[in-house]
Amino acid sequence: MAESKLLVTGAGGMLGKALVACLESRDHKVIAMPKEKLDVTNYEQVQAVLSEQKPSLVLHCAAYTKVDQAESEPALAFLINGYGTENLAVACNQLDIPMLYISSDYVFDGNQNRPYTTWDQTSPLSVYGKTKLAGELAVQRHLKRFYIVRTSWLYGPNGQNFVETILRLASEGKPLRVVADQFGSPTCTLSLSEVIADLIETERYGVYHATDDGVTNWCEFAREITKEFQSEVIAIETKDMPRPATRPKYSVMDKTTLINTIGRELPSWQESLANYISLKKSEALV
Ligand SMILES: NC(=O)c1ccc[n+]([C@@H]2O[C@H](COP(=O)([O-])OP(=O)(O)OC[C@H]3O[C@@H](n4cnc5c(N)ncnc54)[C@H](OP(=O)(O)O)[C@@H]3O)[C@@H](O)[C@H]2O)c1
Repeated sequence: MAESKLLVTGAGGMLGKALVACLESRDHKVIAMPKEKLDVTNYEQVQAVLSEQKPSLVLHCAAYTKVDQAESEPALAFLINGYGTENLAVACNQLDIPMLYISSDYVFDGNQNRPYTTWDQTSPLSVYGKTKLAGELAVQRHLKRFYIVRTSWLYGPNGQNFVETILRLASEGKPLRVVADQFGSPTCTLSLSEVIADLIETERYGVYHATDDGVTNWCEFAREITKEFQSEVIAIETKDMPRPATRPKYSVMDKTTLINTIGRELPSWQESLANYISLKKSEALV
């Protein structure tokens, strides 16, 4: 890749922080933009920041990510994920800057019971999923050079996520009741960041599915997280734990296109989880 200056939005978030650290470790020049420095819903600010910084690529990690809350505040979720992404895409087009947009498995309805390819039809079930799709469409509408990277079930340092919640409940000896009828691929922000760093070096733009390898359900995931505790994890069904947002039943995504592009496989979700837990123990996390 030619001389790079990479601007990361949402740099104060879980993925944003991991991605900034990963890109810096590869000696890229990185402009980290947390919400306080760049509010993507403010078009004037977006245009001013991009014009001043002139990055060679924008990596858009900022998002409204409260899946259940989005059902009761759709306007805010669409403002951030739809129009916020559109603001960046319009400004990137004007300044001829390519963009990488992080999207989600929740753009699919999860009803086909086989992994989704990048050319499968999207059909989001929730407000959150619809807003992430709105972001994808904005990027495709305004830009010729873009990456859309769909990922799923993220966890990692510096974030509220399933792994942290389960570890906390298990350490408190709380009983764990976890749904066993939603299937997907847990993904660590640390391995996803490495994949993104590999992908942008190829400059092969397009839509990609990027998750850690393998399939599980939330209950089995919780059992793997609590392997070292004596906690019992009880399998329940989605109907036993109603939530405002409907989740896809089977949102596993096919990664063939990504693997063919970066030239390597991705770690299994168990391997990534073990690595994350051992890093937590050694307190070597960023
Ligand atoms: N977490 C998952 O399981 C998952 C799964 C698939 C895809 N994704 C996608 O992965 C990306 C990163 O998610 P994450 O898990 O790292 O979420 P996160 O920790 O919530 O990070 C998102 C960041 O965006 C910021 N933000 C919110 N509104 C903004 C605005 N108007 N302008 C600029 N920044 C704003 C948030 O700040 P505040 O917190 O201060 O509002 C937060 O720092 C998102 O695109 C998400 O949709 C996540």
